[in-house]
This record gives sequence, C-alpha cells and structure tokens, in this order.
Amino acid sequence: MKNIITYGTFDLLHPGHINILKNAKDLGDYLIVGLSTDEFNDLKGKKSFYTFDQRRQILESIKYVDKVIPECDWEQKIEDIITYNIDTFVMGSDWVGKFDDLDKWCNVKYFNRTPGISTTIIKKKIKDTVK
Ligand code: CTP
Repeated sequence: MKNIITYGTFDLLHPGHINILKNAKDLGDYLIVGLSTDEFNDLKGKKSFYTFDQRRQILESIKYVDKVIPECDWEQKIEDIITYNIDTFVMGSDWVGKFDDLDKWCNVKYFNRTPGISTTIIKKKIKDTVK
C-alpha cells in the first residue's frame, strides 16, 4: 500500500488541479491532500473564494482523493509524512527544489504544471469579462 501526499489551496478547481491529483494518485494507492486552511492562506497573503469547508467538500468528491487534512503551517509536513506513512510527496513544478529536504523521509516528486491555467488567471478573467 503506497500513500501519497500533496498540498495546496485548491480554490476555484480547474483542470491543472485535476491533473496533479490524478498524477499523484497514479504513483500509489491512497492520496491525501493537505488543504490550506483559511488562516494559513491569510498568512501566505492568499484569499480564497471558497472557504476551507467548501474546498474540502469539493476535493473529497474527486475520485482521485482519498482523504483531506488541514494544512495549518509550513512546518507540519514531516509530521504528516510520518503519521500517514507517506511513500511520495508531490507538488507542482512551481515548487521545484523547495521541498527537496523531505527526501530524507520519503520520495519527493514535482510534476510539471498544466500550462495556461491557475486560480489567479480564472479570477482575473472573470473580473475582466463579467459585468
Ligand atoms: N497546479 C498545477 N498546474 C496548474 C495550477 C496548479 O499543477 N496550472 C498545482 C500546483 O503546482 C500545486 C497544486 O496544483 O501543486 C495546488 O496549487 P494551487 O496554488 O492551489 O493552485 P493555483 O491554480 O496555482 O492557485 P493560485 O493561482 O491561487 O496560486
């Protein structure tokens, strides 16, 4: 049984999110998503459209996702890796190199981001087009 973990805000779900979740799940059997809480987003200077509970509800309905846990700070990853007996830690290529130190605890894999889409781009397009 291989457990995989990835982290993020996953606001305004889009195909880039689905691609990384599918790629992550394909590496193993059980995918855990560490979902940034609204308080952690505040700390990162991010404001999501959907609340944590709404984002969790959406993620939990995706067939690739087996479990959603709160991501409350930058420091919890090693503890999560140990608690959930993680085989591979996954992030998108915007994070390349940032989590290499976790390779003492599990495999670390970065997937290329899906080009041309992000929550930020969607928000901007809606702002520019919807009156
Ligand atoms: N991701 C991806 N391809 C995209 C957008 C996101 O692979 N086009 C990945 C990120 O690399 C990350 C995960 O999806 O590993 C969650 O990213 P998140 O920051 O929640 O999504 P973004 O759409 O990038 O949000 P924002 O624009 O607010 O940064």
